[in-house]
Amino acid sequence: MSLSAKFRLGVLGSGAGSNMVAIAHAASAPDYPAKIALVLSDVANAGILNQAASLGLPHRHIAPGQFRTKLDDAAEAAYIHALREAQVDLVVLAGFMRVLKGQFLRAFEGRVVNVHPSLLPAFPGLDAWKQALEHGVKITGCTVHFVDQGLDTGAIIAQEGTPVLDSDTAETLHARIHEAEHRVYPAAIAALALGRVALQGRRTHLRAP
Ligand code: GAR
Repeated sequence: MSLSAKFRLGVLGSGAGSNMVAIAHAASAPDYPAKIALVLSDVANAGILNQAASLGLPHRHIAPGQFRTKLDDAAEAAYIHALREAQVDLVVLAGFMRVLKGQFLRAFEGRVVNVHPSLLPAFPGLDAWKQALEHGVKITGCTVHFVDQGLDTGAIIAQEGTPVLDSDTAETLHARIHEAEHRVYPAAIAALALGRVALQGRRTHLRAP
Protein backbone atom coordinates (compact mmCIF):
# COMPACT_ATOMS: atom_id res chain seq x y z
CA MET A 1 0.00 0.00 0.00
CA SER A 2 1.42 3.41 -0.94
CA LEU A 3 1.99 5.91 1.87
CA SER A 4 -0.40 8.45 0.35
CA ALA A 5 -3.25 5.91 0.43
CA LYS A 6 -2.87 5.27 4.13
CA PHE A 7 -5.61 6.25 6.56
CA ARG A 8 -4.45 9.23 8.60
CA LEU A 9 -4.72 9.03 12.39
CA GLY A 10 -4.86 11.91 14.85
CA VAL A 11 -3.95 10.53 18.27
CA LEU A 12 -5.01 12.42 21.42
CA GLY A 13 -3.57 11.51 24.83
CA SER A 14 -2.89 12.95 28.26
CA GLY A 15 -0.56 10.33 29.73
CA ALA A 16 2.36 8.02 29.09
CA GLY A 17 1.43 7.24 25.50
CA SER A 18 2.02 3.47 25.46
CA ASN A 19 -1.03 2.91 23.23
CA MET A 20 0.21 5.54 20.77
CA VAL A 21 3.59 3.76 20.71
CA ALA A 22 1.86 0.40 20.06
CA ILE A 23 -0.07 1.96 17.17
CA ALA A 24 3.10 3.59 15.80
CA HIS A 25 4.86 0.24 16.05
CA ALA A 26 2.07 -1.52 14.14
CA ALA A 27 2.06 1.31 11.59
CA SER A 28 5.76 0.79 10.91
CA ALA A 29 4.85 -2.43 9.06
CA PRO A 30 4.62 -1.62 5.33
CA ASP A 31 1.24 -3.35 4.95
CA TYR A 32 -0.45 -1.65 7.93
CA PRO A 33 -3.23 0.49 6.42
CA ALA A 34 -2.88 3.57 8.66
CA LYS A 35 -0.26 6.06 9.76
CA ILE A 36 -0.10 8.58 12.60
CA ALA A 37 -0.44 12.05 11.08
CA LEU A 38 -0.53 14.04 14.34
CA VAL A 39 -0.28 13.53 18.11
CA LEU A 40 -2.01 16.08 20.36
CA SER A 41 -2.02 16.42 24.12
CA ASP A 42 -3.75 18.65 26.65
CA VAL A 43 -0.80 18.13 29.06
CA ALA A 44 2.32 20.11 28.18
CA ASN A 45 4.83 17.61 29.59
CA ALA A 46 2.89 14.41 28.82
CA GLY A 47 4.87 11.26 28.07
CA ILE A 48 2.89 10.85 24.85
CA LEU A 49 4.49 14.04 23.43
CA ASN A 50 8.00 12.86 24.36
CA GLN A 51 7.28 9.48 22.80
CA ALA A 52 6.00 11.15 19.64
CA ALA A 53 9.13 13.33 19.50
CA SER A 54 11.42 10.32 19.77
CA LEU A 55 9.44 8.51 17.06
CA GLY A 56 9.72 11.57 14.79
CA LEU A 57 5.95 12.06 14.68
CA PRO A 58 4.29 15.50 14.35
CA HIS A 59 3.06 16.47 17.82
CA ARG A 60 1.66 19.48 19.65
CA HIS A 61 0.40 20.55 23.04
CA ILE A 62 -2.89 22.42 22.84
CA ALA A 63 -3.93 23.90 26.17
CA PRO A 64 -7.36 22.69 27.32
CA GLY A 65 -8.65 26.02 28.62
CA GLN A 66 -10.47 26.73 31.83
CA PHE A 67 -12.11 23.40 32.72
CA ARG A 68 -10.72 20.30 34.45
CA THR A 69 -12.60 17.49 32.71
CA LYS A 70 -13.38 18.90 29.26
CA LEU A 71 -11.97 21.30 26.68
CA ASP A 72 -13.44 24.78 26.62
CA ASP A 73 -15.02 25.93 23.33
CA ALA A 74 -11.92 27.75 22.09
CA ALA A 75 -9.67 24.80 22.89
CA GLU A 76 -12.05 22.37 21.23
CA ALA A 77 -12.03 24.55 18.11
CA ALA A 78 -8.21 24.57 18.17
CA TYR A 79 -8.14 20.75 18.35
CA ILE A 80 -10.60 20.52 15.44
CA HIS A 81 -8.53 22.98 13.40
CA ALA A 82 -5.25 21.10 14.01
CA LEU A 83 -6.78 17.73 13.15
CA ARG A 84 -8.41 19.08 9.98
CA GLU A 85 -5.15 20.75 8.95
CA ALA A 86 -3.41 17.38 9.34
CA GLN A 87 -6.17 15.82 7.15
CA VAL A 88 -6.97 13.24 9.77
CA ASP A 89 -9.38 10.44 8.78
CA LEU A 90 -9.80 9.00 12.28
CA VAL A 91 -9.42 10.54 15.73
CA VAL A 92 -7.88 8.00 18.10
CA LEU A 93 -8.22 8.68 21.83
CA ALA A 94 -5.39 6.98 23.69
CA GLY A 95 -5.61 7.91 27.35
CA PHE A 96 -7.13 11.33 26.60
CA MET A 97 -8.66 12.26 29.94
CA ARG A 98 -11.15 14.91 28.81
CA VAL A 99 -14.69 14.52 27.57
CA LEU A 100 -15.24 15.68 23.97
CA LYS A 101 -18.47 17.54 23.37
CA GLY A 102 -20.93 18.03 20.53
CA GLN A 103 -18.89 20.52 18.49
CA PHE A 104 -15.97 18.07 18.27
CA LEU A 105 -18.08 14.97 17.70
CA ARG A 106 -20.05 16.69 14.92
CA ALA A 107 -16.79 17.75 13.23
CA PHE A 108 -15.63 14.11 13.14
CA GLU A 109 -18.95 12.30 13.14
CA GLY A 110 -18.50 8.52 13.40
CA ARG A 111 -14.74 8.99 13.20
CA VAL A 112 -13.69 9.14 16.87
CA VAL A 113 -12.65 5.99 18.73
CA ASN A 114 -11.40 5.31 22.25
CA VAL A 115 -9.77 2.52 24.20
CA HIS A 116 -11.10 1.96 27.71
CA PRO A 117 -9.50 -0.26 30.36
CA SER A 118 -12.53 -2.44 31.21
CA LEU A 119 -15.09 -4.62 29.50
CA LEU A 120 -17.73 -1.95 28.89
CA PRO A 121 -20.48 -1.36 29.86
CA ALA A 122 -18.87 -2.39 33.18
CA PHE A 123 -16.79 0.25 34.92
CA PRO A 124 -17.01 3.38 32.76
CA GLY A 125 -15.14 6.49 33.87
CA LEU A 126 -11.89 6.88 35.74
CA ASP A 127 -9.50 4.17 36.96
CA ALA A 128 -11.62 1.35 35.54
CA TRP A 129 -9.08 -1.33 36.54
CA LYS A 130 -9.32 -0.17 40.18
CA GLN A 131 -13.11 -0.24 39.97
CA ALA A 132 -12.92 -3.83 38.67
CA LEU A 133 -10.53 -4.92 41.42
CA GLU A 134 -12.64 -3.29 44.14
CA HIS A 135 -15.83 -4.81 42.76
CA GLY A 136 -14.25 -8.26 42.82
CA VAL A 137 -14.85 -9.33 39.22
CA LYS A 138 -12.82 -12.32 38.01
CA ILE A 139 -12.51 -11.10 34.42
CA THR A 140 -12.05 -7.55 33.20
CA GLY A 141 -10.21 -6.33 30.09
CA CYS A 142 -10.33 -3.57 27.53
CA THR A 143 -12.77 -2.17 25.00
CA VAL A 144 -12.31 -0.24 21.77
CA HIS A 145 -15.45 1.75 21.01
CA PHE A 146 -16.83 4.62 18.97
CA VAL A 147 -17.12 7.83 20.98
CA ASP A 148 -20.58 9.33 21.40
CA GLN A 149 -21.95 12.04 23.69
CA GLY A 150 -22.08 9.71 26.70
CA LEU A 151 -19.28 8.61 29.03
CA ASP A 152 -17.79 5.43 27.47
CA THR A 153 -21.19 4.51 25.98
CA GLY A 154 -20.52 4.32 22.22
CA ALA A 155 -20.87 1.21 20.05
CA ILE A 156 -18.29 -1.46 20.83
CA ILE A 157 -15.79 -2.38 18.10
CA ALA A 158 -13.53 -4.90 19.90
CA GLN A 159 -12.87 -6.30 23.36
CA GLU A 160 -10.34 -8.59 25.02
CA GLY A 161 -10.80 -10.19 28.41
CA THR A 162 -8.09 -10.12 31.09
CA PRO A 163 -8.39 -12.48 34.08
CA VAL A 164 -8.11 -10.89 37.53
CA LEU A 165 -5.59 -12.87 39.57
CA ASP A 166 -5.81 -13.34 43.35
CA SER A 167 -2.37 -11.76 43.61
CA ASP A 168 -3.26 -8.68 41.53
CA THR A 169 -2.72 -5.14 42.70
CA ALA A 170 -4.13 -2.18 40.77
CA GLU A 171 -0.72 -1.80 39.11
CA THR A 172 -0.27 -5.42 37.98
CA LEU A 173 -3.83 -5.61 36.70
CA HIS A 174 -3.51 -2.35 34.77
CA ALA A 175 -0.21 -3.56 33.30
CA ARG A 176 -1.87 -6.70 31.87
CA ILE A 177 -4.86 -4.68 30.59
CA HIS A 178 -2.35 -2.36 28.90
CA GLU A 179 -0.80 -5.37 27.13
CA ALA A 180 -4.25 -6.35 25.87
CA GLU A 181 -4.91 -2.77 24.70
CA HIS A 182 -1.66 -2.82 22.74
CA ARG A 183 -2.94 -5.86 20.81
CA VAL A 184 -6.57 -4.88 20.37
CA TYR A 185 -6.30 -1.17 19.52
CA PRO A 186 -3.91 -1.42 16.53
CA ALA A 187 -5.96 -4.34 15.16
CA ALA A 188 -9.25 -2.44 15.51
CA ILE A 189 -7.75 0.67 13.88
CA ALA A 190 -6.54 -1.45 10.94
CA ALA A 191 -10.05 -2.88 10.51
CA LEU A 192 -11.51 0.65 10.54
CA ALA A 193 -8.90 1.88 8.06
CA LEU A 194 -9.77 -0.96 5.70
CA GLY A 195 -13.48 -0.11 5.94
CA ARG A 196 -14.18 -3.50 7.47
CA VAL A 197 -16.18 -2.28 10.50
CA ALA A 198 -19.91 -2.19 9.77
CA LEU A 199 -22.23 -0.51 12.26
CA GLN A 200 -25.89 -1.49 12.63
CA GLY A 201 -27.59 0.25 15.51
CA ARG A 202 -25.34 -0.38 18.50
CA ARG A 203 -23.80 -3.52 17.00
CA THR A 204 -20.65 -3.65 14.91
CA HIS A 205 -19.46 -6.52 12.84
CA LEU A 206 -16.39 -7.22 10.79
CA ARG A 207 -16.89 -7.41 7.04
CA ALA A 208 -14.92 -10.08 5.23
CA PRO A 209 -11.75 -8.73 3.55
C1 GAR B 1 -5.04 3.27 29.02
O1 GAR B 1 -5.12 2.20 29.91
C2 GAR B 1 -6.41 3.69 28.55
O2 GAR B 1 -7.29 2.60 28.43
C3 GAR B 1 -6.84 4.59 29.67
O3 GAR B 1 -5.70 5.35 29.96
C4 GAR B 1 -4.55 4.54 29.73
C5 GAR B 1 -3.59 5.33 28.88
O4 GAR B 1 -2.35 4.67 28.79
N1 GAR B 1 -7.93 5.42 29.26
C6 GAR B 1 -8.94 5.74 30.05
O5 GAR B 1 -9.02 5.38 31.21
C7 GAR B 1 -10.01 6.60 29.39
N2 GAR B 1 -11.21 6.58 30.15
P1 GAR B 1 -1.26 5.13 27.75
O6 GAR B 1 -1.11 6.65 27.89
O7 GAR B 1 -0.01 4.42 28.18
O8 GAR B 1 -1.74 4.75 26.38
